[in-house]
Amino acid sequence: MTCDPQGEGGAHDEPGARDPQAYAGDGARPGAHGPERTAAAFHAVYGYAPGGVWAAPGRVNLIGEHTDYNDGFVLPLALPHTALLAASRRADGVLRVHSGDVPGGVVELRADALTPAADGGWAGYPAGVVWALREAGLAVGGADLHFDSTVPTGAGLSSSAALEVATATALNDLYALGLEPQRIARIGQRAENAFVGVPCGIMDQTASACCTEGHALHLDTRDLRQRQVPFALAAEGLRLLVVDTRVKHELGDGAYAKRRAGCEQGARTLGVRALRDVPYEGLGAALDRIEDGTVRGLVRHIVTENRRVEEVIGLLDAGETPAIGPVLTAGHISLRDDFTVSCAELDLVVESANAAGALGARMTGGGFGGSAIVLVEEADAEAVTKAVTHAFGAAGYAAPRVSPAVPSAGARRLA
Ligand code: GLA
Repeated sequence: MTCDPQGEGGAHDEPGARDPQAYAGDGARPGAHGPERTAAAFHAVYGYAPGGVWAAPGRVNLIGEHTDYNDGFVLPLALPHTALLAASRRADGVLRVHSGDVPGGVVELRADALTPAADGGWAGYPAGVVWALREAGLAVGGADLHFDSTVPTGAGLSSSAALEVATATALNDLYALGLEPQRIARIGQRAENAFVGVPCGIMDQTASACCTEGHALHLDTRDLRQRQVPFALAAEGLRLLVVDTRVKHELGDGAYAKRRAGCEQGARTLGVRALRDVPYEGLGAALDRIEDGTVRGLVRHIVTENRRVEEVIGLLDAGETPAIGPVLTAGHISLRDDFTVSCAELDLVVESANAAGALGARMTGGGFGGSAIVLVEEADAEAVTKAVTHAFGAAGYAAPRVSPAVPSAGARRLA
């Protein structure tokens, strides 16, 4: 997938509706990413026109990190960056997948002979979705799929969830499965957990499937109840910046599973089903019962983080958006010190942005690299961007990529 967070300046328009001038100012490449181009690429690869084109976005999480595998709360929003998928149904059970962003040709498989974690390549995401749909007893057969994505990979912005949700959304339409967006998200998560072999929670796929423009999504990951929380940044003269550090530290994958196991250990010690069940008011007493210092930190983060989600939602509902800034920064400090999933580059984004006048900042996603988010007054956006970029230069790091996180629509059919 292309590493180009600037690549899509706004929503995907209907074919022909795009005004190149409208995108000229924000570094976008007019016409470089859109349903017409993806349909044309499908035609070039497979020799016929696709049955349709679908889009599924990447996400940032505003607050509620590592809570989704503790039955807790999350508050993600969808990005304008999307995975586009041109697709057609096939009658012969053959599944062909191709990406405009990954070198190599068409990967050819059979829908009825997919084996979990067989190859480990990018094709495992769409193939895993076909596998998960079939495993759920749904009548899905072959398909031809071509992807183009502007969700950067390795940036913690859920490029893989975007691929999964785009695939499930397209197959839902092509095979008339009648699945709701939340079910589509669960299929995507099942593909990632059981086929690709990554023990992620449900946040990323739900954000990609269910978010709506102008909102953050409050999701209770225990019962999957959700509410769209208005997040009108522009109207309030605010901007949320995504700062992609362009680093991904290798220990990330194993460390995620380790944090997850530590949280489960904490819940067992405290005799609760999940850490979500530890009340904020009872945190001190709960911590006294845990001997292991590492587990104590994990528990403290989850319990305080769930509280921060509620706090942020209260402030957004009260129209006090700038006041969420310090809560975001507190969330970062908790991830850095208690959950220990930050890294020097992410810490530097938060410190340099806040020192330059940001309202608040935090790492977003799993951690160990990837991206941070920064809340700024619109008037300060440029100065804060410059300050962060300068700090990276002074530390000897490659320049980060900064783009606005405009709360965008979830998965949808475009053509
Ligand atoms: C990754 C996982 C999510 C979630 C976040 C941390 O993005 O895929 O399920 O656990 O990390 O909040």
